[in-house]
Amino acid sequence: MSIALLGTPLAPVRRKALIAAGHELVTPQRAELRVHVGARPPARAPRAPWVWATPSPVAPADAALAVLAGAYDVVAVDDALPATLGRRLAELRVTREPGPPPVGFVAESEAAKRVVAELDRAARTSMAVLLTGETGSGKDLAARHLHARSGRTGDLVPINCAAVPNELIEGELFGYVRGAFSGAVSDYDGQLRAASHGTVFLDEVDDTPKTLQIKLLRVLEDHVVSRLGENAWREVDFRVVAATNRDLDELVRRGEFGADLYQRLAIVRIELPPLRDRLEDIPELAAHLIARFYREEPRAPHRVTTVTPAALAALQRYPWPGNVRELRNVVFQALVHKRAGDDLLLSDLAEHVIRGAPTDRRTTPGTLIDRGAIAKLLDEGRMNLRSLRDDLERTALELAVARSGGSPARIARLLGEVGRGASRDPAGTVRAMLRRYGMGTVST
Ligand SMILES: Nc1ncnc2c1ncn2[C@@H]1O[C@H](COP(=O)(O)OP(=O)(O)OP(=O)(O)O)[C@@H](O)[C@H]1O
Ligand SMILES: [Mg+2]
Repeated sequence: MSIALLGTPLAPVRRKALIAAGHELVTPQRAELRVHVGARPPARAPRAPWVWATPSPVAPADAALAVLAGAYDVVAVDDALPATLGRRLAELRVTREPGPPPVGFVAESEAAKRVVAELDRAARTSMAVLLTGETGSGKDLAARHLHARSGRTGDLVPINCAAVPNELIEGELFGYVRGAFSGAVSDYDGQLRAASHGTVFLDEVDDTPKTLQIKLLRVLEDHVVSRLGENAWREVDFRVVAATNRDLDELVRRGEFGADLYQRLAIVRIELPPLRDRLEDIPELAAHLIARFYREEPRAPHRVTTVTPAALAALQRYPWPGNVRELRNVVFQALVHKRAGDDLLLSDLAEHVIRGAPTDRRTTPGTLIDRGAIAKLLDEGRMNLRSLRDDLERTALELAVARSGGSPARIARLLGEVGRGASRDPAGTVRAMLRRYGMGTVST
């Protein structure tokens, strides 16, 4: 395995250890991997694969800068250096060269192209990546892209930190041995081990319960996990990608999210820009979404091929608070109703998009309310407002329960405002709603 040492000369004993471990020290041109040794990153990053080897721990910001400048990893100059470099070399050999964005990731605007480039650079490293961005901006897609480009041979294992009930999440992540608790009927290895040689995607990481944060930190620091009910620690090799649409800095300041864990997760931070800041993506996104609609609905009775300039102009004027997901909904909704014509017309779009302003934020998004259906019920004298409102409430409640793990406080947060007026006890209101709909008791 040929490596080139650059930067500060390495102590003879360390050079000897490298050679003893089977590394061949060669010139940069011939090396498979360049190792920049030093307390500071190189002034000019090598163009070919390189790692930064540091004699002392580096600040996360410096590590991030090095990675963004193309470093594959930041490694410590210690006794494990020969073995670490061996592993990085082995990984590099299987890492596929990044090509064009994978099918499905539209990036026409400069802002989106920058994101793809950042994702590609980060993908080649083993560093933890924190994806931030408003809801619907593409964090999920970005996580999948990171994994696909990482060359890691294992699976992408998504874990929604907000959806798994508190009392189950530790068993789910770390695994358990039979009999560890009353429901543990057989051994289970847990999601973190399922992600071995792959990627763990911690979605909605801001919602991770405090006790779990502490345990996660330990896992991320030492890369070992222990199943519940067992005292043995096993090494796991996975890369962590986390996502949030909340301001983690603010949560750390308020003491709701551990600063240590935050540092660990946000070694590289990639921000998905809101759609309203990259309107140049919209024509390509619309075309992509139309194709996707017919792929997902192969039996749709009619096919649209183009978007008229007037419709495009409206799509590019609307501010998209729900980002690409909202655009998808608007396009899909329009296509569902389309019966004739090659063009998607301005008049096919949802009313609030034509108007160019989102529906009042406190009311439901326009796509949820079907004005035509309501008009029909009124005309036919079949309207029952109370039962409709109850249906909506029950459905939203059921969906929120499934995503919250049953905690009334989280359900309340998911539901936005609950009850009449500004409730001082949203969780209490949620509990009352659950009772009203006979949805059983939940944990507090
Ligand atoms: N650049 C893109 N190209 C094509 N489709 C995209 C792009 N970005 C997002 N989408 C699509 O938009 C939808 C929402 O994206 P995604 O689920 O990744 O958002 P998110 O940031 O994870 O949202 P949330 O914070 O609500 O979880 C998905 O259907 C996704 O495929
Ligand atoms: Mg998501």
